[in-house]
Amino acid sequence: MCGIVAYIGDRDAYPILIKGLKRLEYRGYDSAGVALLDGNDLRVYRKKGKVSDLEAHTEGKSKEGKIGIGHTRWATHGAPTDANAHPHTSGDGRLAIIHNGIIENYASLKKELISKGHSFESETDTEVLGHFIEEIRKSNQCSLEEAVRIALKRVVGAYVIVIASKDDPGTLIAARKGSPLVIGVGRDEHFLASDATPIVEYTKKVIYVNDHEIAIIRKDELVLKNLTNEEQTPYIHTLDVELEAIEKGGYDHFMIKEIHEQPNTIRDCLRGRLDVEAGRITLGGIREYAANLNNTDRIVFVACGTSWHAGLVAEYVFEELCRVPVEVEYASEFRYRNPVIREGDVIFAVSQSGETADTLVAIEGAKEKGAIIFGICNVVGSSIPRASHEGVYTHAGPEIGVASTKAFTAQLTVLTLIALKSAHERGTIDDKRFRELLAELYRIPEKVKQALDMDEHIRKIAGKYKDAHSFLFLGRRYGFPVALEGALKLKEISYIHAEGYPAAEMKHGHIALVDENLPSVFIATRDSSYEKIVSNIQEIKARGGKVIAVVSEGDDVIPQMADDVIEVPETDELLMPMVSVIPLQLLSYHIGTMKGYNVDQPRNLAKSVTVE
Ligand code: F6R
Repeated sequence: MCGIVAYIGDRDAYPILIKGLKRLEYRGYDSAGVALLDGNDLRVYRKKGKVSDLEAHTEGKSKEGKIGIGHTRWATHGAPTDANAHPHTSGDGRLAIIHNGIIENYASLKKELISKGHSFESETDTEVLGHFIEEIRKSNQCSLEEAVRIALKRVVGAYVIVIASKDDPGTLIAARKGSPLVIGVGRDEHFLASDATPIVEYTKKVIYVNDHEIAIIRKDELVLKNLTNEEQTPYIHTLDVELEAIEKGGYDHFMIKEIHEQPNTIRDCLRGRLDVEAGRITLGGIREYAANLNNTDRIVFVACGTSWHAGLVAEYVFEELCRVPVEVEYASEFRYRNPVIREGDVIFAVSQSGETADTLVAIEGAKEKGAIIFGICNVVGSSIPRASHEGVYTHAGPEIGVASTKAFTAQLTVLTLIALKSAHERGTIDDKRFRELLAELYRIPEKVKQALDMDEHIRKIAGKYKDAHSFLFLGRRYGFPVALEGALKLKEISYIHAEGYPAAEMKHGHIALVDENLPSVFIATRDSSYEKIVSNIQEIKARGGKVIAVVSEGDDVIPQMADDVIEVPETDELLMPMVSVIPLQLLSYHIGTMKGYNVDQPRNLAKSVTVE
């Protein structure tokens, strides 16, 4: 949610900023801007629209400067306009600031500043913060670093900020609370960004800035301090992301690349963890607190969006295998609901980005009450894993397409591994079934690949239904969360209204919508509720509805009643969501592209939702 990038060193900053902003555009694409510091010149360029609009806007203008900050925005305060685009400057124009997050008390700060004579060009909370820092600096006659520290003690909310100032043209000041900030350490140069993707081609050495830390960055020096001005020791991590992983690699869109990567990402996720021959699962990330997991009498999953759907699948899997009650909570509801949390309760936070504000705050609150938190995240070093007691990374590689695809199947893979291991240790699964499931899990990447082979067939189906105004997605048991995920993908990518529902529930209301214009997508693979879902399909057909059914290979019943079928290979019903979701991802991708939409950057969305 908003991408920030900054550079200080001996190279020209502008090309580094633009390339970085393009890599971060998935985090927000309402407007973009850069500020370049060249001696005592501070040039700011801002433009509504994409980074390419910013590039066009700067054409022919001076782009000198070895120090610069850049921003790509997902609007919170104020519409996406040139005026609201970052960077913002202070009233005297001596500093430029970029910000990712929300300053909750900006209205009262703004009032205070207006009473002191400040006026504002934008509606943003960020401009208020810039003026506030300037005001403190002037009235306290202090350094910029000191002014930032004083300002941040009064600020309520979440932020990453980076400031460049004419008063100290060899220094960038950055700070974080609740939003991510990575600093790349090069030789006599530093790179700052919301995640490592803009940094990886320059250096693999990175520092993840912690909450309540301020970084004072010169080209050859980096000092980290806390808000009480004590120096902190930076810990340098080595990135293991390669540049190819964040490029399209010949595909038209990141989304389709990432859909097709899934056999590999699932395999990567299993590698070193699943040993079929030995009948063993090894999870290095859950050791110290494994006993808590194995002895708990209640598990709670907190997550948002697609990750919440992964939690729903996990609910079925854990209850089935571990015989423990599971609750799946929207993080945004959980954090405000005063939920009952007891000492030792086990909570899984599921998040691709590891930065989702609601999920992060939900676990922080639960941790204070004594819960044990396991983070299931994709982005290494992100906030949720760091706030968790232990956890398992999904290792799906960078997911750039805004709609989550490969992260979802990787989450299912990890959660299934954890459930299987815990069930084995609890003794709620017998050895034969345990080994059967391990062997079948090992075969999932190949089955996902077979499902992907239906791509062309699915594209044709997409062409047939792309003009529908609404869709139903229906499934039972393990197929129900998949139906929810299919509906979410279609809404995000093609802007077609879609609802996911338990297939049996539709009789209690949704069936009233059914006519020849409403396609229903059934997840109807052969499982323990197969006969029931066949009846549900008949109920839709009897009312003239169109049916697209995802069925198991060789099914000869449903093809006789459905209008279109998509076959996927058979697998154990517990593992089927990893396979049956593939056609739904492809369907939404093809409908979205046929409608001419930018599926990698759907309107109004952002990849990493760091505001609540
Ligand atoms: C849907 C999607 C979102 C995210 C949600 C949570 O395609 O991407 O619904 O799943 O914003 O994000 P993470 O998993 O990063 O916490």
